[in-house]
Amino acid sequence: MADVGPGLELAGAGVVVTGGGSGIGAELARRFAAAGARVVVNDLDADAARAVAGEVGAVAAPGDAASVDGVAALVSAARDELGEIDLFCANAGVAATGGVTGDAAATEADWASSFEVNVLAHVRAAQVLLPQWLERGRGHLLVTASAAGLLTMLGSAPYAVSKHAAVAFAEWLRATYTHRGIVVQALCPQGVRTPMLEASGEVGRALLGADAVDVGVVGDAVLEALADGRFLVLPHPEVHGYLQAKAADPDAWLGAMNRLQQRLDP
Ligand SMILES: NC(=O)c1ccc[n+]([C@@H]2O[C@H](COP(=O)([O-])OP(=O)(O)OC[C@H]3O[C@@H](n4cnc5c(N)ncnc54)[C@H](O)[C@@H]3O)[C@@H](O)[C@H]2O)c1
Repeated sequence: MADVGPGLELAGAGVVVTGGGSGIGAELARRFAAAGARVVVNDLDADAARAVAGEVGAVAAPGDAASVDGVAALVSAARDELGEIDLFCANAGVAATGGVTGDAAATEADWASSFEVNVLAHVRAAQVLLPQWLERGRGHLLVTASAAGLLTMLGSAPYAVSKHAAVAFAEWLRATYTHRGIVVQALCPQGVRTPMLEASGEVGRALLGADAVDVGVVGDAVLEALADGRFLVLPHPEVHGYLQAKAADPDAWLGAMNRLQQRLDP
């Protein structure tokens, strides 16, 4: 792929997966370990991190992958374990539902945690990873954003907005550091059958349920993308078409989204 160095060789690579105790992160840990990577599994849920690490022959590093101290502790523990971190998967995320008014409005706490975990976690990871990566001219960051960060997510304002910010940060890193050997990729699935989708409420399940894929589809898409370095990793290929339609005619696209919202309104 243009302007990007050779794909990542997973065999022997040192890899960190945040939010690796469940869903997409657990699948990534499984697939990376099967490909011969040395994997560190992080999760806020310590038991879940240990269970997945035990299952795949990885090392657990439980803790908060979003706070300044948590990110520093995770990267330090991972460097102790792996030596170099070759691939950091900023995958942990939270999915607050709700809009801006009425009974279903998202709270201040929802907005704050959405930005902490879905955006600032990535900024903080980049802050501690980049100095060493730039020095050695090599490093790989895979950000799990969402198709909601390219399109939108009806019924979940903090999620849609924070995932746009996650994509924007990944774009900024990619534009700024590609020529210095840093590969940044944004994983943007639509519905994936995980506990997060289950917990996404009636609207979430109505919007995403029908076309939801199993985590294995996401794992396949990630392995393929790590090999060629493309920026957007789209386990649902139709998202590419939606993005083109949005860019070509934002008014028509937003009109269609509003008609969909009208069908969802009680
Ligand atoms: N499931 C979907 O439909 C879907 C679609 C698009 C994007 N995503 C994104 O994929 C990522 C993984 O989601 P999933 O569907 O596997 O959900 P999941 O709920 O199965 O797993 C998320 C994991 O992240 C952990 N976590 C949350 N906050 C954390 C923190 N601060 N530090 C460490 N761990 C933390 C949770 O404990 C949980 O184990 C998220 O970023 C999510 O937004 C999911």
